[in-house]
Amino acid sequence: MLKLSVIGTGYLGATHAAAMSSLGFEVVGVDIDPKKIELLSQGKVPFFEPGLGELLAAEIKSQRLKFTTDFSQISDCDVHFICVGTPQRSDSLAADLTYVDTSVASVAPRAKAGSLIVGKSTVPVGTANRLADVLRGANEKVELAWNPEFLREGFAVEDTLRPNRLVVGVTSDRAEEILKEVYASLLKDGVPWIRADLPTAELVKVAANSFLATKISFINAMAEICEAAGGDVTVLARAIGYDPRIGSRFLQAGIGFGGGCLPKDIRAFMARSEELGARQSLEFLREIDSINLRARARVIDLVKVELGQDLKGKRIAVWGAAFKPDSDDVRDSPALDIAVELGKAGASVRVHDPKAIEPARARFAHLDFTESIESCIAGADVILHLTEWKIYREINPVAIKSQVNQAIVIDGRNSLDKELWVRAGWKFRAPGRA
Ligand code: UDX
Repeated sequence: MLKLSVIGTGYLGATHAAAMSSLGFEVVGVDIDPKKIELLSQGKVPFFEPGLGELLAAEIKSQRLKFTTDFSQISDCDVHFICVGTPQRSDSLAADLTYVDTSVASVAPRAKAGSLIVGKSTVPVGTANRLADVLRGANEKVELAWNPEFLREGFAVEDTLRPNRLVVGVTSDRAEEILKEVYASLLKDGVPWIRADLPTAELVKVAANSFLATKISFINAMAEICEAAGGDVTVLARAIGYDPRIGSRFLQAGIGFGGGCLPKDIRAFMARSEELGARQSLEFLREIDSINLRARARVIDLVKVELGQDLKGKRIAVWGAAFKPDSDDVRDSPALDIAVELGKAGASVRVHDPKAIEPARARFAHLDFTESIESCIAGADVILHLTEWKIYREINPVAIKSQVNQAIVIDGRNSLDKELWVRAGWKFRAPGRA
């Protein structure tokens, strides 16, 4: 049985490590953050991801899975998965590759002869070839492969153990065989296997995320048109979604995409296309990004239409801080972005979220957070529904009406039951619905 290491234990790495252990491999997870490692070693997940806690605890108990800050413990591993983050650089649209570079530099001298380093992080095309060169200089007995990860937060375990495809960028049959051994049980379940060269494997990931971002911005552009023309984007989305060539998923109009992947991936892709002399090919992504940011601004405009241009003294209840439901990730969260802007405009904003309050407070200490929906909406002039957690759909608009100052709700995710709220006497507004 192969022994695996996983470098970087965030959403991707922690999930990958636990999932690979559940397939029967011995796995050592490495991270430079001792606090994370301590928690993981106790079988505790440092973030919220449905199902991961149970899996992790079981795998720690099985003793196949270990976590450490000590890189020397990877020396007997056969495969090293690089799962570190590639955030947007602070000085440009490009990706910051510091963590990927230092991970490979840390693994290379310690990796045993014949082992394989497998990048899973999302990187600009060309990175793997550059790293392969670095590796040849540092340890010529180790090979590099790229195996992009497509997991969605909130479904990380499911997406890792039952992915809709496995893509491997390799430069030899041997590397492909090793990866087939790692994923043997998934292949047995019929998961499609795609062998590619290194640049294609890197590109698959950013192309997929660009397509998803485009789909969301397309429907948000339709929302703008619906507002201008007096249409309803939710009906339009349902109607076009029945065409299987279009498909109904990722056609939810609202305040747009956020999180640690889509926004930074399309920006890094644009930056890379310029370096490649192919700027024009991805020029449309600039528009995708603008439509997306406009979707946030348009909800603020809606608030001003309802409450007046001057928001000083207005009480605004915000439902949701995470960038999407079933996650406590607040990186580039459209909900928090809107809450911050409304606060800057003078409104008194109180934010509720079932899971993301702590990480949200860590980023925006000046915002007012609450763990109680009652306290969030008490005396509110408007409720903004900005992250579509199930608990918000279960709220009875009749029951809470007496607790607010004005019965106005803005459904920034187009996922509340409009009829229900209107029947209860609320003024209901939503992007793309005239
Ligand atoms: C995404 C990709 O889906 C995943 O394959 C990749 O590996 C990482 O990036 P994730 O960031 O977890 O995953 O979230 P995703 O479910 O794709 O949602 C991204 C954003 O789009 C969220 O903010 C979500 O609220 C928004 N979204 C999604 C919409 O606004 N409308 C939709 O119809 C769908």
